[in-house]
Amino acid sequence: MEELTLLLQETRLRVDEYLKKTIVAFRDKTPPRLYEAMEYSVLAPGKRFRSFLLLEFGQAFQVPEKQLLQVAMAIEFVNAYSLVHDDLPCMDDAPLRRGQPTTHLKFDEATALLAGNSLLTAAFEMLASYETHPDLTIRLRLITALAEACGSQGMMGGQMLDLLGETTRFNLDEIKHMQSLKTGALLSFSCEAAAILAKQELNILNEVRNFGAHIGLAFQITDDLLDVEGSEEKIGKPTGIDQRSNKATFVSLLGAKEARLRAGQEIEEALNALRKIGLPFSKLEKAVLSLFIRCS
Ligand code: IPE
Ligand code: IPE
Ligand code: MG
Ligand code: MG
Ligand code: MG
Repeated sequence: MEELTLLLQETRLRVDEYLKKTIVAFRDKTPPRLYEAMEYSVLAPGKRFRSFLLLEFGQAFQVPEKQLLQVAMAIEFVNAYSLVHDDLPCMDDAPLRRGQPTTHLKFDEATALLAGNSLLTAAFEMLASYETHPDLTIRLRLITALAEACGSQGMMGGQMLDLLGETTRFNLDEIKHMQSLKTGALLSFSCEAAAILAKQELNILNEVRNFGAHIGLAFQITDDLLDVEGSEEKIGKPTGIDQRSNKATFVSLLGAKEARLRAGQEIEEALNALRKIGLPFSKLEKAVLSLFIRCS
């Protein structure tokens, strides 16, 4: 098992247990086929890296665990939805995800589309719940921040640019912009949400966002490197998809060696941002450092 996955194991168990309980609450009010596709997608063995970020920041800021888990559900629902749609034939056309057939192959395209939409909607239902935070203003801030992170000005904008990049030659800044939207925005939200729950001051919020931006870039460059150099067994999804689709990535523009250096710089910047916050983040630091191993 790779170093990062091992470090996330404890969080994953906790998050998966809560995910099971949460998703099952949708069963009785959802048509069985749709429910099965939602459950299949969200309970598939993901790393829960975004939840890990949220929980690590949340613990440092002393946010009650229940509140963090509620937000973790929203994040995992959005992540699962984004992957179900990302794998569709009209997007990356991928057969395997998290070591199992993609949702549109296991079910069908229409069901995958609907399951994705349902998970996205359910994410906002989670944030709107009283259990997420008793203060309505905080819930509203979370809802707004998630909408910005996954909407056209965030992840969806990034996914659009990712598709346009297949037929347009992007320069480095354009690739960076695309990556920060398609991946950085949700990773950044995962960190920022903890600061929102803890009612942190703006300067801390900005530093947390800064960390999120750097870790987002590092994570996507690593993902792009794994697409070229990884193995299907290790990453649970096919390799070579980016090259086949002519994706614009750090690796396609700069080559693997330079891309790895850039990932390293982003990891350094992320660690600097963490130090500025000035709280003990030892496990989070380890996870950030393990991205070095992941991409080397
Ligand atoms: C995959 O994210 C999509 C990217 C933004 C690279 P993850 O690598 O976190 O996927 P799971 O959730 O662990 O399957
Ligand atoms: C996906 O990026 C980003 C999303 C918002 C889903 P990729 O297309 O590189 O993710 P993988 O490699 O399929 O997991
Ligand atoms: Mg994609
Ligand atoms: Mg993809
Ligand atoms: Mg990828």
